[in-house]
Amino acid sequence: MRIGIYGGSFDPFHNGHQAMVRSALASGYVDCVIAVPSVRNSFKRYTAVLAAPYRYYMTLHAAEKSGLEGFYVSDVEFGIEGVSYTAVMLSMLTDPVYISRFLQNNGVSCKAASEKHSYYWIMGSDTLATFEHWYRPETILKYVTLLAAVRPGDDTDIVRASDSVTGNFGGEVEFFRLDGVNCSSSAINSTGDFACCPDAVREFIDIHSLYTDNTKLANCSEIAREQFFDNAVKLYPELKEKRLLHTLNVGILSAHLAGVYGADADKALIAGQLHDCVKEKDIEEQRRLAESYSGDLFADKKLLHSPGGATYARDHYGVSDCGILDAICYHTTGRGNMTLLEKIVYLADKIEPSRTYTDLSDIRKAAETDLDEAMRMTSACVVAKFRKQGRELHPLTGDMMRDLGL
Ligand SMILES: [Fe+2]
Ligand SMILES: [Fe+2]
Repeated sequence: MRIGIYGGSFDPFHNGHQAMVRSALASGYVDCVIAVPSVRNSFKRYTAVLAAPYRYYMTLHAAEKSGLEGFYVSDVEFGIEGVSYTAVMLSMLTDPVYISRFLQNNGVSCKAASEKHSYYWIMGSDTLATFEHWYRPETILKYVTLLAAVRPGDDTDIVRASDSVTGNFGGEVEFFRLDGVNCSSSAINSTGDFACCPDAVREFIDIHSLYTDNTKLANCSEIAREQFFDNAVKLYPELKEKRLLHTLNVGILSAHLAGVYGADADKALIAGQLHDCVKEKDIEEQRRLAESYSGDLFADKKLLHSPGGATYARDHYGVSDCGILDAICYHTTGRGNMTLLEKIVYLADKIEPSRTYTDLSDIRKAAETDLDEAMRMTSACVVAKFRKQGRELHPLTGDMMRDLGL
């Protein structure tokens, strides 16, 4: 097969990106296009607005709903340690075992997926002029032919740019005609107008409340933001889509609430992000991790991931702060004398933007002005849920409710 590879931040994925894919498929040069959202881009390591899993799943849903046959999305960059250079990513993506499995998972027949493929790197004609500054251009050209998009009226001197690349580094450059809208992620980010994004992307942004003041993490330090982005990559293989995005949402909302109530936003961000980090592990593994943090205080299977998460956050995510670890440990039950951080993570877990178990609009409103009132409202929901399921409340939850005057 002739495979087009289209790398980018996709922050967000917009109609301009989709037009590139559509035009490349129509060009006759490639049989399919694989979009590869960057995880840690070498040029702008932490300037992406959104953590990598958001951008990956957003692009994946856009591809699924695009109606374009042969448009796939790869998560290969999540497997790269450190900065993800194109040359490194290509060595992994074009590995015969990886690409054959990837194509088969996307519905390509075993025979077609296993043959020898040729690869094209899809890029804008403007990017061609800067290609020589990329990391190891000569290595990249061993893997791919460059396939540059030219828009009608484009005044880039494509012949000169192409000759410069092939003269300096060898390889080949081809061109294809790009039809469709011209939009940019930075313009979308600065205006907050997502009209130029596919419906699937707009829906995704809406569900998770992305590209808001909260997702900018403005009240967190640079170090905490880096930690959040790195942890998001580490969490990717540990949690399925829904829970992973839930945990990122809880981190972001916790950091926001910390800003509102004067708590440490950095600690809130990390505690919120890691609160469910072991929830998809085998139950016996969860029990072992839980006992290491809190003995047999939590016997209920559904609670084990809380103390278990604290152990795992300490041992695998390098968290040493006791306040963060306790916020993770008590996020399901609460307890008496809760710290501000513990209350924030407890609440954020129950009301982050993608939660839909009941109408949360009143609690979300209360959370902006009166933390304890929002906690009381949340507790009422929790009690109702436990009664419905015939479950007993944990004694620690009783302590929390007494403290709240319930
Ligand atoms: Fe949880
Ligand atoms: Fe949770």
